[in-house]
Amino acid sequence: APARFTLDPAFTVGDVDPRLFGSFVEHLGRCVYTGIHEPGHPAADDAGLRTDVLALVRELGVTVIRYPGGNFVSNHRWEDGVGPVDSRPRRLDLAWRTTETNRFGLAEYMEFLRRIGPQAEPMMAVNLGTRGVTEALQLQEYANHPGGTELSDRRAAHGDKDPYGIRLWCLGNEMDGPWQTGHKTAEEYGRLAAETARAMRQMDRDVQLVACGSSSRAMPTFGTWEATVLAETYDLVDYVSLHAYYEERDGDRDSFLASAVDMESFIEEVVATCDHVGARLKSPKKLRLSFDEWNVWYLSRYQQQAEAEPLDWPEAPRLLEDVYSVTDAVVFGSLLIALLRHADRVAVACLAQLVNVIAPIMTEPGGPAWRQTTFHPFAQASRYGRGRVLDVRVESPTYETRKYGTVPLLHATAVRADDGTVTVFAVNRDRTAPLPLDVTLHGLGAAEVLEHTALADPDPEARNTRDEPERVTPHAVDGTRVEDGVLRAVLEPMSWNVIRLG
Ligand code: AHR
Repeated sequence: APARFTLDPAFTVGDVDPRLFGSFVEHLGRCVYTGIHEPGHPAADDAGLRTDVLALVRELGVTVIRYPGGNFVSNHRWEDGVGPVDSRPRRLDLAWRTTETNRFGLAEYMEFLRRIGPQAEPMMAVNLGTRGVTEALQLQEYANHPGGTELSDRRAAHGDKDPYGIRLWCLGNEMDGPWQTGHKTAEEYGRLAAETARAMRQMDRDVQLVACGSSSRAMPTFGTWEATVLAETYDLVDYVSLHAYYEERDGDRDSFLASAVDMESFIEEVVATCDHVGARLKSPKKLRLSFDEWNVWYLSRYQQQAEAEPLDWPEAPRLLEDVYSVTDAVVFGSLLIALLRHADRVAVACLAQLVNVIAPIMTEPGGPAWRQTTFHPFAQASRYGRGRVLDVRVESPTYETRKYGTVPLLHATAVRADDGTVTVFAVNRDRTAPLPLDVTLHGLGAAEVLEHTALADPDPEARNTRDEPERVTPHAVDGTRVEDGVLRAVLEPMSWNVIRLG
Protein backbone atom coordinates (compact mmCIF):
# COMPACT_ATOMS: atom_id res chain seq x y z
CA ALA A 1 0.00 0.00 0.00
CA PRO A 2 1.21 3.52 -0.67
CA ALA A 3 2.13 5.85 2.14
CA ARG A 4 -0.30 8.74 2.27
CA PHE A 5 -1.20 12.03 3.88
CA THR A 6 -3.37 15.07 3.25
CA LEU A 7 -2.21 18.63 2.75
CA ASP A 8 -4.55 21.47 3.60
CA PRO A 9 -3.28 25.03 4.18
CA ALA A 10 -5.96 25.44 6.86
CA PHE A 11 -4.09 22.99 9.10
CA THR A 12 -0.68 24.23 10.11
CA VAL A 13 2.05 23.65 12.69
CA GLY A 14 3.58 27.11 12.72
CA ASP A 15 5.84 29.56 10.92
CA VAL A 16 9.42 28.63 10.17
CA ASP A 17 11.88 30.95 11.86
CA PRO A 18 14.76 31.55 9.40
CA ARG A 19 17.08 30.84 12.33
CA LEU A 20 16.17 27.17 11.93
CA PHE A 21 18.81 27.09 9.19
CA GLY A 22 21.73 28.05 11.37
CA SER A 23 25.16 26.48 11.62
CA PHE A 24 28.14 26.54 13.93
CA VAL A 25 31.80 27.55 13.72
CA GLU A 26 33.95 26.33 16.59
CA HIS A 27 37.66 26.73 17.12
CA LEU A 28 38.12 23.01 16.55
CA GLY A 29 40.40 21.21 14.12
CA ARG A 30 40.26 22.93 10.73
CA CYS A 31 36.85 24.56 10.97
CA VAL A 32 38.35 28.04 11.36
CA TYR A 33 41.98 27.65 10.29
CA THR A 34 42.27 26.42 6.66
CA GLY A 35 38.47 26.06 6.71
CA ILE A 36 37.01 29.54 6.56
CA HIS A 37 40.28 31.42 7.19
CA GLU A 38 43.43 30.77 5.23
CA PRO A 39 45.53 33.83 4.37
CA GLY A 40 47.77 32.98 1.42
CA HIS A 41 45.25 30.59 -0.15
CA PRO A 42 44.77 31.48 -3.85
CA ALA A 43 41.05 32.14 -3.12
CA ALA A 44 41.63 34.18 0.07
CA ASP A 45 40.39 37.77 0.16
CA ASP A 46 42.07 40.72 1.88
CA ALA A 47 40.74 39.47 5.25
CA GLY A 48 42.24 36.01 4.73
CA LEU A 49 38.77 34.52 4.26
CA ARG A 50 38.42 31.83 1.60
CA THR A 51 36.06 33.18 -1.06
CA ASP A 52 35.43 29.65 -2.38
CA VAL A 53 34.10 28.72 1.07
CA LEU A 54 32.12 31.97 1.37
CA ALA A 55 30.38 31.14 -1.93
CA LEU A 56 29.47 27.67 -0.68
CA VAL A 57 28.22 29.04 2.66
CA ARG A 58 25.92 31.40 0.73
CA GLU A 59 24.69 28.55 -1.46
CA LEU A 60 24.05 26.44 1.64
CA GLY A 61 21.65 29.14 2.84
CA VAL A 62 22.97 29.40 6.36
CA THR A 63 21.32 32.05 8.53
CA VAL A 64 22.61 32.26 12.10
CA ILE A 65 26.19 31.08 12.89
CA ARG A 66 27.03 30.05 16.45
CA TYR A 67 30.58 30.83 17.66
CA PRO A 68 33.24 30.22 19.13
CA GLY A 69 32.22 26.90 20.75
CA GLY A 70 31.26 24.27 21.69
CA ASN A 71 33.53 22.75 24.26
CA PHE A 72 36.17 25.29 23.23
CA VAL A 73 34.28 28.20 24.75
CA SER A 74 34.36 26.83 28.28
CA ASN A 75 37.97 27.87 28.84
CA HIS A 76 38.07 30.67 26.30
CA ARG A 77 39.20 34.23 26.99
CA TRP A 78 37.44 36.40 24.40
CA GLU A 79 39.96 39.21 24.83
CA ASP A 80 42.74 36.92 23.50
CA GLY A 81 41.07 37.11 20.09
CA VAL A 82 40.78 40.90 19.67
CA GLY A 83 43.28 43.65 18.82
CA PRO A 84 46.44 43.48 16.73
CA VAL A 85 46.86 39.91 15.50
CA ASP A 86 50.61 39.80 16.10
CA SER A 87 50.25 40.51 19.78
CA ARG A 88 47.60 37.87 20.45
CA PRO A 89 48.63 35.04 22.81
CA ARG A 90 48.97 31.39 21.95
CA ARG A 91 46.94 29.28 24.38
CA LEU A 92 46.24 25.67 25.24
CA ASP A 93 42.77 24.62 24.13
CA LEU A 94 41.89 22.05 26.78
CA ALA A 95 38.77 20.83 25.00
CA TRP A 96 40.55 19.46 21.95
CA ARG A 97 44.18 19.33 23.21
CA THR A 98 45.34 21.73 20.51
CA THR A 99 47.16 25.06 20.43
CA GLU A 100 44.99 28.10 19.75
CA THR A 101 46.87 30.86 17.94
CA ASN A 102 44.04 33.41 18.21
CA ARG A 103 44.81 34.68 14.71
CA PHE A 104 41.04 34.55 14.21
CA GLY A 105 38.78 36.09 16.83
CA LEU A 106 35.67 38.17 17.36
CA ALA A 107 36.39 40.86 14.74
CA GLU A 108 37.30 38.26 12.12
CA TYR A 109 34.12 36.32 12.89
CA MET A 110 32.02 39.45 12.45
CA GLU A 111 33.82 40.19 9.18
CA PHE A 112 33.14 36.62 8.03
CA LEU A 113 29.42 37.15 8.70
CA ARG A 114 29.42 40.49 6.87
CA ARG A 115 31.03 38.89 3.85
CA ILE A 116 28.50 36.07 3.75
CA GLY A 117 25.80 38.72 3.43
CA PRO A 118 22.89 40.23 5.35
CA GLN A 119 21.23 36.84 5.93
CA ALA A 120 24.03 35.76 8.31
CA GLU A 121 23.47 36.60 11.95
CA PRO A 122 25.84 36.13 14.91
CA MET A 123 25.09 33.84 17.84
CA MET A 124 27.75 34.27 20.48
CA ALA A 125 28.49 31.90 23.34
CA VAL A 126 29.92 33.20 26.62
CA ASN A 127 32.24 31.14 28.79
CA LEU A 128 30.41 29.95 31.90
CA GLY A 129 32.87 27.11 32.50
CA THR A 130 35.96 28.89 33.84
CA ARG A 131 34.44 32.38 33.86
CA GLY A 132 31.27 34.13 34.93
CA VAL A 133 29.08 37.22 35.04
CA THR A 134 31.90 39.82 34.86
CA GLU A 135 33.54 38.45 31.73
CA ALA A 136 30.20 37.92 29.99
CA LEU A 137 29.33 41.56 30.66
CA GLN A 138 32.72 42.72 29.45
CA LEU A 139 32.30 40.84 26.19
CA GLN A 140 28.79 42.20 25.75
CA GLU A 141 29.98 45.76 26.35
CA TYR A 142 32.97 45.38 24.02
CA ALA A 143 30.73 43.93 21.30
CA ASN A 144 27.54 45.94 21.59
CA HIS A 145 27.98 49.23 23.42
CA PRO A 146 28.13 52.16 20.95
CA GLY A 147 31.09 53.98 22.55
CA GLY A 148 32.37 56.24 25.29
CA THR A 149 33.46 53.50 27.70
CA GLU A 150 36.84 51.81 28.02
CA LEU A 151 35.66 48.55 26.44
CA SER A 152 33.57 50.00 23.63
CA ASP A 153 36.33 52.49 22.81
CA ARG A 154 38.76 49.59 22.76
CA ARG A 155 36.65 47.95 20.05
CA ALA A 156 36.73 51.20 18.06
CA ALA A 157 40.50 51.46 18.52
CA HIS A 158 40.73 47.89 17.21
CA GLY A 159 39.08 49.05 14.00
CA ASP A 160 35.34 48.53 14.53
CA LYS A 161 33.73 51.82 15.40
CA ASP A 162 30.20 50.51 14.92
CA PRO A 163 28.90 48.11 17.56
CA TYR A 164 28.38 44.54 16.41
CA GLY A 165 24.77 44.41 17.61
CA ILE A 166 24.88 40.75 18.65
CA ARG A 167 21.35 39.83 19.74
CA LEU A 168 21.54 36.10 20.35
CA TRP A 169 23.73 34.76 23.18
CA CYS A 170 24.34 31.27 24.57
CA LEU A 171 24.84 31.14 28.32
CA GLY A 172 27.71 28.64 28.19
CA ASN A 173 27.89 25.30 26.42
CA GLU A 174 26.90 21.77 27.51
CA MET A 175 27.42 22.58 31.16
CA ASP A 176 25.75 19.24 32.08
CA GLY A 177 28.64 17.27 30.52
CA PRO A 178 31.46 15.99 32.78
CA TRP A 179 33.83 16.52 29.80
CA GLN A 180 33.11 20.25 29.87
CA THR A 181 35.81 22.43 31.41
CA GLY A 182 34.13 23.91 34.49
CA HIS A 183 31.26 21.38 34.34
CA LYS A 184 28.50 22.18 36.86
CA THR A 185 25.55 20.60 38.58
CA ALA A 186 22.12 21.77 37.44
CA GLU A 187 21.76 23.85 40.62
CA GLU A 188 25.15 25.52 40.17
CA TYR A 189 24.59 26.21 36.50
CA GLY A 190 20.99 27.36 36.99
CA ARG A 191 22.13 30.02 39.46
CA LEU A 192 25.05 31.16 37.32
CA ALA A 193 22.94 31.28 34.16
CA ALA A 194 20.23 33.26 35.99
CA GLU A 195 22.71 35.80 37.38
CA THR A 196 24.46 36.17 34.02
CA ALA A 197 21.12 36.61 32.25
CA ARG A 198 19.94 39.21 34.74
CA ALA A 199 23.13 41.20 34.40
CA MET A 200 23.18 41.01 30.60
CA ARG A 201 19.61 42.26 30.54
CA GLN A 202 20.62 45.17 32.79
CA MET A 203 22.90 46.27 29.96
CA ASP A 204 20.36 45.55 27.23
CA ARG A 205 16.79 44.47 27.90
CA ASP A 206 16.44 43.05 24.41
CA VAL A 207 19.26 40.50 24.33
CA GLN A 208 18.00 37.02 23.45
CA LEU A 209 19.41 34.34 25.70
CA VAL A 210 19.79 30.59 25.45
CA ALA A 211 20.10 28.50 28.62
CA CYS A 212 21.98 25.20 28.31
CA GLY A 213 19.74 22.19 28.23
CA SER A 214 21.08 18.66 27.99
CA SER A 215 23.95 17.75 25.72
CA SER A 216 21.98 14.70 24.63
CA ARG A 217 18.77 12.86 25.43
CA ALA A 218 20.90 10.00 26.75
CA MET A 219 22.44 12.07 29.56
CA PRO A 220 21.56 10.60 32.96
CA THR A 221 20.47 14.05 34.12
CA PHE A 222 18.21 14.69 31.09
CA GLY A 223 14.84 16.05 32.22
CA THR A 224 15.81 16.97 35.75
CA TRP A 225 18.60 19.17 34.38
CA GLU A 226 16.14 21.22 32.32
CA ALA A 227 13.58 21.41 35.13
CA THR A 228 16.18 22.59 37.66
CA VAL A 229 17.87 25.08 35.34
CA LEU A 230 14.57 26.50 34.14
CA ALA A 231 13.22 26.89 37.65
CA GLU A 232 15.98 29.52 38.05
CA THR A 233 15.98 31.00 34.55
CA TYR A 234 12.47 30.67 33.08
CA ASP A 235 11.64 34.36 33.12
CA LEU A 236 15.16 35.45 32.19
CA VAL A 237 15.87 33.45 29.03
CA ASP A 238 14.24 33.06 25.64
CA TYR A 239 15.38 29.58 24.68
CA VAL A 240 16.66 26.34 26.12
CA SER A 241 19.20 24.38 24.09
CA LEU A 242 19.24 20.79 22.84
CA HIS A 243 22.15 18.92 21.25
CA ALA A 244 21.97 15.60 19.40
CA TYR A 245 24.31 13.59 17.20
CA TYR A 246 23.49 10.32 15.47
CA GLU A 247 25.66 7.56 14.02
CA GLU A 248 25.22 4.04 12.73
CA ARG A 249 26.26 1.59 15.45
CA ASP A 250 27.02 -2.13 15.14
CA GLY A 251 25.89 -2.21 11.52
CA ASP A 252 22.29 -1.45 12.57
CA ARG A 253 21.36 0.67 9.58
CA ASP A 254 17.62 0.27 10.05
CA SER A 255 17.77 1.96 13.47
CA PHE A 256 20.15 4.60 12.14
CA LEU A 257 17.64 5.46 9.41
CA ALA A 258 15.05 6.02 12.15
CA SER A 259 17.24 8.47 14.14
CA ALA A 260 14.65 11.22 13.76
CA VAL A 261 12.32 9.20 15.99
CA ASP A 262 14.74 9.94 18.82
CA MET A 263 15.10 13.58 17.79
CA GLU A 264 11.34 14.15 17.72
CA SER A 265 10.90 12.51 21.14
CA PHE A 266 13.73 14.64 22.51
CA ILE A 267 12.06 17.84 21.26
CA GLU A 268 8.66 16.82 22.61
CA GLU A 269 10.10 15.90 26.01
CA VAL A 270 11.95 19.22 26.31
CA VAL A 271 8.76 21.07 25.34
CA ALA A 272 6.86 19.11 28.02
CA THR A 273 9.51 19.96 30.62
CA CYS A 274 9.46 23.66 29.70
CA ASP A 275 5.68 23.73 29.91
CA HIS A 276 5.74 21.91 33.23
CA VAL A 277 8.05 24.56 34.70
CA GLY A 278 5.89 27.29 33.13
CA ALA A 279 2.80 25.76 34.73
CA ARG A 280 4.48 25.60 38.14
CA LEU A 281 5.39 29.27 37.81
CA LYS A 282 1.89 30.15 36.51
CA SER A 283 3.67 31.87 33.64
CA PRO A 284 1.90 32.86 30.43
CA LYS A 285 5.25 32.65 28.65
CA LYS A 286 6.01 29.70 26.34
CA LEU A 287 9.72 28.98 26.05
CA ARG A 288 11.11 28.11 22.64
CA LEU A 289 13.90 25.71 21.79
CA SER A 290 17.35 26.25 20.33
CA PHE A 291 18.56 22.97 18.82
CA ASP A 292 21.97 24.51 18.54
CA GLU A 293 24.00 21.40 17.74
CA TRP A 294 22.67 18.60 15.55
CA ASN A 295 24.13 16.30 12.93
CA VAL A 296 25.29 12.85 12.00
CA TRP A 297 28.63 12.38 13.79
CA TYR A 298 30.71 9.22 14.11
CA LEU A 299 31.48 10.27 17.68
CA SER A 300 32.47 6.80 18.91
CA ARG A 301 35.29 6.71 16.31
CA TYR A 302 36.60 10.05 17.56
CA GLN A 303 36.38 8.94 21.19
CA GLN A 304 38.35 5.74 20.52
CA GLN A 305 41.02 7.68 18.65
CA ALA A 306 41.29 10.41 21.27
CA GLU A 307 41.71 7.81 24.00
CA ALA A 308 44.29 5.76 22.10
CA GLU A 309 46.45 8.71 21.00
CA PRO A 310 45.86 11.93 22.96
CA LEU A 311 46.93 14.90 20.88
CA ASP A 312 50.13 16.72 21.76
CA TRP A 313 48.77 20.27 21.29
CA PRO A 314 49.06 20.62 17.48
CA GLU A 315 47.73 23.66 15.60
CA ALA A 316 44.57 23.12 13.51
CA PRO A 317 44.89 19.33 13.09
CA ARG A 318 42.50 17.20 11.08
CA LEU A 319 39.83 16.40 13.66
CA LEU A 320 36.29 15.07 13.31
CA GLU A 321 36.56 15.16 9.50
CA ASP A 322 33.73 12.70 8.87
CA VAL A 323 33.13 11.98 5.19
CA TYR A 324 29.41 11.50 4.75
CA SER A 325 27.77 8.79 2.66
CA VAL A 326 24.46 9.07 0.86
CA THR A 327 22.99 7.02 3.75
CA ASP A 328 24.19 9.66 6.19
CA ALA A 329 22.61 12.35 4.00
CA VAL A 330 19.23 10.59 4.03
CA VAL A 331 19.30 10.40 7.84
CA PHE A 332 20.43 14.03 7.92
CA GLY A 333 17.45 14.99 5.72
CA SER A 334 15.17 13.19 8.13
CA LEU A 335 16.64 15.24 11.01
CA LEU A 336 15.78 18.40 9.05
CA ILE A 337 12.23 17.09 8.66
CA ALA A 338 12.07 16.52 12.44
CA LEU A 339 13.07 20.14 13.07
CA LEU A 340 10.54 21.50 10.58
CA ARG A 341 7.78 19.32 12.03
CA HIS A 342 8.36 21.14 15.34
CA ALA A 343 8.73 24.66 13.97
CA ASP A 344 6.09 25.87 16.42
CA ARG A 345 8.57 25.42 19.30
CA VAL A 346 12.01 25.04 17.71
CA ALA A 347 13.01 28.57 16.76
CA VAL A 348 16.77 28.20 16.36
CA ALA A 349 18.79 25.26 15.08
CA CYS A 350 22.49 25.02 14.27
CA LEU A 351 23.97 22.34 12.09
CA ALA A 352 27.22 21.41 13.82
CA GLN A 353 29.46 22.35 12.18
CA LEU A 354 30.05 24.43 9.03
CA VAL A 355 33.44 23.56 7.49
CA ASN A 356 35.68 20.46 7.75
CA VAL A 357 34.58 19.47 11.26
CA ILE A 358 31.52 17.17 10.86
CA ALA A 359 30.60 19.59 8.13
CA PRO A 360 28.67 20.00 4.88
CA ILE A 361 31.66 21.86 3.34
CA MET A 362 35.17 20.41 3.08
CA THR A 363 38.43 22.09 2.12
CA GLU A 364 42.03 21.18 1.44
CA PRO A 365 44.68 23.61 2.69
CA GLY A 366 45.89 25.42 -0.42
CA GLY A 367 43.42 23.33 -2.44
CA PRO A 368 39.75 23.12 -3.36
CA ALA A 369 36.51 23.30 -1.38
CA TRP A 370 33.61 20.95 -2.08
CA ARG A 371 30.14 19.89 -0.97
CA GLN A 372 29.57 16.79 1.15
CA THR A 373 26.44 14.69 0.56
CA THR A 374 24.76 16.42 3.52
CA PHE A 375 25.20 19.83 1.89
CA HIS A 376 22.32 19.14 -0.48
CA PRO A 377 19.41 18.41 1.90
CA PHE A 378 20.39 21.44 3.99
CA ALA A 379 20.60 23.79 0.99
CA GLN A 380 17.25 22.58 -0.35
CA ALA A 381 15.53 22.83 3.04
CA SER A 382 16.87 26.33 3.61
CA ARG A 383 15.79 27.41 0.14
CA TYR A 384 12.33 25.85 0.01
CA GLY A 385 11.56 25.40 3.71
CA ARG A 386 10.70 29.03 4.46
CA GLY A 387 7.08 29.85 5.24
CA ARG A 388 4.48 27.95 7.21
CA VAL A 389 4.74 24.27 8.09
CA LEU A 390 1.60 22.32 7.26
CA ASP A 391 0.29 19.68 9.62
CA VAL A 392 1.32 16.40 8.00
CA ARG A 393 -0.20 13.24 9.55
CA VAL A 394 1.39 10.30 7.83
CA GLU A 395 -0.20 6.90 7.26
CA SER A 396 2.60 4.63 6.17
CA PRO A 397 3.74 1.06 5.90
CA THR A 398 6.17 0.32 8.73
CA TYR A 399 9.37 -1.61 9.42
CA GLU A 400 10.99 -3.05 12.53
CA THR A 401 14.04 -1.49 14.19
CA ARG A 402 16.11 -2.75 17.13
CA LYS A 403 16.27 0.64 18.79
CA TYR A 404 12.90 2.23 18.12
CA GLY A 405 10.54 -0.70 17.52
CA THR A 406 8.01 -0.29 14.71
CA VAL A 407 8.71 2.82 12.64
CA PRO A 408 6.89 4.31 9.60
CA LEU A 409 8.86 3.97 6.36
CA LEU A 410 7.81 7.47 5.36
CA HIS A 411 9.02 10.56 7.23
CA ALA A 412 7.63 13.78 5.81
CA THR A 413 6.70 17.40 6.26
CA ALA A 414 5.52 20.22 3.99
CA VAL A 415 6.07 23.97 3.94
CA ARG A 416 3.89 26.57 2.25
CA ALA A 417 5.78 29.66 1.12
CA ASP A 418 4.27 33.14 1.08
CA ASP A 419 3.80 32.90 -2.71
CA GLY A 420 1.57 29.84 -2.23
CA THR A 421 4.02 27.22 -3.51
CA VAL A 422 4.19 24.13 -1.33
CA THR A 423 7.27 21.94 -0.87
CA VAL A 424 7.02 18.40 0.42
CA PHE A 425 10.18 17.03 2.09
CA ALA A 426 10.05 13.25 2.36
CA VAL A 427 12.38 10.41 3.30
CA ASN A 428 11.87 6.78 2.35
CA ARG A 429 13.56 4.73 5.08
CA ASP A 430 13.28 1.47 3.16
CA ARG A 431 16.80 0.40 2.22
CA THR A 432 15.78 -1.74 -0.73
CA ALA A 433 12.27 -1.01 -1.95
CA PRO A 434 10.69 2.08 -3.52
CA LEU A 435 7.78 3.61 -1.61
CA PRO A 436 4.70 4.85 -3.49
CA LEU A 437 3.29 8.07 -2.00
CA ASP A 438 -0.19 9.58 -2.43
CA VAL A 439 -0.82 13.07 -1.08
CA THR A 440 -4.40 14.34 -1.13
CA LEU A 441 -4.41 18.08 -1.83
CA HIS A 442 -7.12 20.22 -0.26
CA GLY A 443 -7.46 23.95 -0.70
CA LEU A 444 -4.36 24.24 -2.85
CA GLY A 445 -6.09 25.22 -6.11
CA ALA A 446 -4.90 23.60 -9.31
CA ALA A 447 -1.49 22.67 -7.94
CA GLU A 448 0.98 21.09 -10.32
CA VAL A 449 4.34 19.45 -9.80
CA LEU A 450 7.08 21.98 -10.48
CA GLU A 451 9.94 19.65 -9.61
CA HIS A 452 10.76 16.41 -7.82
CA THR A 453 14.38 15.74 -6.91
CA ALA A 454 15.86 12.88 -4.92
CA LEU A 455 19.14 12.22 -3.21
CA ALA A 456 19.66 8.46 -3.48
CA ASP A 457 22.24 6.13 -4.92
CA PRO A 458 22.46 2.43 -5.77
CA ASP A 459 25.60 2.39 -3.61
CA PRO A 460 24.62 3.28 -0.02
CA GLU A 461 28.28 4.07 0.72
CA ALA A 462 28.64 6.61 -2.12
CA ARG A 463 30.39 9.79 -0.91
CA ASN A 464 31.77 13.03 -2.29
CA THR A 465 35.52 13.40 -2.04
CA ARG A 466 38.18 15.79 -3.24
CA ASP A 467 38.73 13.55 -6.29
CA GLU A 468 35.03 13.01 -6.95
CA PRO A 469 33.26 16.04 -5.44
CA GLU A 470 30.06 15.62 -7.44
CA ARG A 471 29.60 11.87 -6.97
CA VAL A 472 26.34 12.38 -5.00
CA THR A 473 23.99 15.23 -5.96
CA PRO A 474 20.19 15.46 -6.18
CA HIS A 475 18.73 14.14 -9.44
CA ALA A 476 15.39 14.84 -11.11
CA VAL A 477 12.67 12.20 -10.67
CA ASP A 478 10.24 11.67 -13.54
CA GLY A 479 6.65 10.62 -13.36
CA THR A 480 5.54 12.57 -10.28
CA ARG A 481 2.19 14.15 -11.07
CA VAL A 482 -1.08 15.52 -9.68
CA GLU A 483 -4.12 13.46 -10.73
CA ASP A 484 -7.64 14.40 -9.59
CA GLY A 485 -6.30 16.40 -6.68
CA VAL A 486 -3.85 13.69 -5.56
CA LEU A 487 -0.09 14.03 -5.80
CA ARG A 488 1.35 10.67 -6.84
CA ALA A 489 5.04 9.96 -6.47
CA VAL A 490 7.36 7.02 -6.04
CA LEU A 491 10.19 7.53 -3.57
CA GLU A 492 13.34 5.65 -4.48
CA PRO A 493 14.80 3.23 -1.93
CA MET A 494 16.57 5.05 0.92
CA SER A 495 16.04 8.53 -0.47
CA TRP A 496 15.62 12.17 0.50
CA ASN A 497 12.99 13.86 -1.69
CA VAL A 498 11.96 17.43 -2.42
CA ILE A 499 8.68 17.80 -4.31
CA ARG A 500 7.64 21.32 -5.20
CA LEU A 501 4.05 22.16 -6.04
CA GLY A 502 2.78 25.41 -7.50
O1 AHR B 1 30.40 19.90 17.76
C1 AHR B 1 31.39 19.19 18.43
C2 AHR B 1 31.23 19.21 19.95
O2 AHR B 1 30.08 18.51 20.30
C3 AHR B 1 31.02 20.57 20.59
O3 AHR B 1 32.21 21.22 20.86
C4 AHR B 1 30.32 20.22 21.87
O4 AHR B 1 29.50 21.25 22.31
C5 AHR B 1 29.58 18.94 21.55
O5 AHR B 1 29.81 17.97 22.50
